[in-house]
Amino acid sequence: MKKSDCFSIEQSIVHPLIQCSFVSRTVKEHSYEIMESLDLFDISNPTLNDQCFEKKEAGKRCFIVIDDNVYHIYGHSILNYFKFYNIEYGIKVLTVSEKTKTIDSVLAVANELDQFNLSRRNEPMIAIGGGVLTDICSLTANLYRRSTECIKIPTTLMGQIDAAIGVKTGINFNGNKNRLGTYYSSGKVLIDRTFLQSLGDRAFNNGLSEILKMALIKEPVLFELLEKHKFAICKDRMLGKNDYSTIIQLSIKSMLEELAPNLWEKSLERVVDFGHTFSPVLEMKAVGDLYHGEAVSIDMAYSVLLAHEKGVMSKEDLDRALNLFVDLGLPTDHALCTQDLLITALDDTCTHRAGKQNFPLPVTIGKSTFSNDITHDEIAKIVHRMKSLHVELV
Ligand SMILES: NC(=O)c1ccc[n+]([C@@H]2O[C@H](COP(=O)([O-])OP(=O)(O)OC[C@H]3O[C@@H](n4cnc5c(N)ncnc54)[C@H](O)[C@@H]3O)[C@@H](O)[C@H]2O)c1
Repeated sequence: MKKSDCFSIEQSIVHPLIQCSFVSRTVKEHSYEIMESLDLFDISNPTLNDQCFEKKEAGKRCFIVIDDNVYHIYGHSILNYFKFYNIEYGIKVLTVSEKTKTIDSVLAVANELDQFNLSRRNEPMIAIGGGVLTDICSLTANLYRRSTECIKIPTTLMGQIDAAIGVKTGINFNGNKNRLGTYYSSGKVLIDRTFLQSLGDRAFNNGLSEILKMALIKEPVLFELLEKHKFAICKDRMLGKNDYSTIIQLSIKSMLEELAPNLWEKSLERVVDFGHTFSPVLEMKAVGDLYHGEAVSIDMAYSVLLAHEKGVMSKEDLDRALNLFVDLGLPTDHALCTQDLLITALDDTCTHRAGKQNFPLPVTIGKSTFSNDITHDEIAKIVHRMKSLHVELV
């Protein structure tokens, strides 16, 4: 037997019919850094150059994969930055959507990396775009030469507080959301809130729903900040007030607190799955019609109704929560949300959660529990209640 701090090999005879057995164990530390810096691609800001190219003077190479909408708006200043800092780059402008979040896009990016002959050790891929683009790129980086560094620069609110923060990569497959994917901590994440200025209202709100998720399930202070700024936050695009910086930082910190101890999802009791029980099936059924965050928002609205129906959440908290959905401009229902769809989605999620519902439910604002005894009857009741509530709200 050979042993060190980080690996061990044990040889043993475990059964008369098994001649030998080796168990190889390796412990690999995983760390990645998330930094926030405004105006990342202003040449007076050396953060990207210094952090990602170790202040090297020469021999800096990278491959940029950029969302086409982002390229259209920021391409000029981004490329200017690389030229100014003497960084040789290849570039692929990718048109992405939930429909093209597929293996074809992964192969298209891998093909470009190969043409550029990217070295996996010291030449990063730099992914600039929303959650769809960073999910595609981090999966490609994980596959390319068995793992290549991928620096993520998320340009949507969804990306900045969620999609680029964890280690999950993924693409849609066979009509199923994120059915192919890996866990890969690919490299640094650089967050620049100024990108949010060019997002449309709907795309911005899409990210707000994941902030509301953390607020409802874990962070009462975040909930209070959202309540305080609910009518200005979208218009301000998260810029110009100290509270906005706090909102971003609290969202990231609370997300990391949940992800880090369970990075490989050994435990399937994950509060961050709040809003992700019904939504994967709903999102794929309504693909092209609903954004990811909108499907999550609708799922969360049904979930708070369920929490109240099960007697774990008070009427006062339920009303406070539902009012915030409405005031933030987040959807609470969709025509496709029928009893059948919610039951199908719950069953599908159970398969994903090793046969258990593990349904995160808010108890009060900022505190949660898990439920494993949700019945079809309760689902019927919340569907009925939501449809009548929706009529009242409209
Ligand atoms: N890996 C994870 O842990 C994780 C977590 C949450 C969400 N996701 C994934 O993220 C995806 C959703 O991400 P998203 O909401 O960022 O959507 P998205 O990537 O589709 O971006 C939304 C739209 O905004 C455009 N865009 C991006 N940045 C822009 C900018 N600065 N200005 C103007 N337009 C811009 C894009 O071109 C796109 O049309 C989903 O596929 C979801 O599964 C992954």
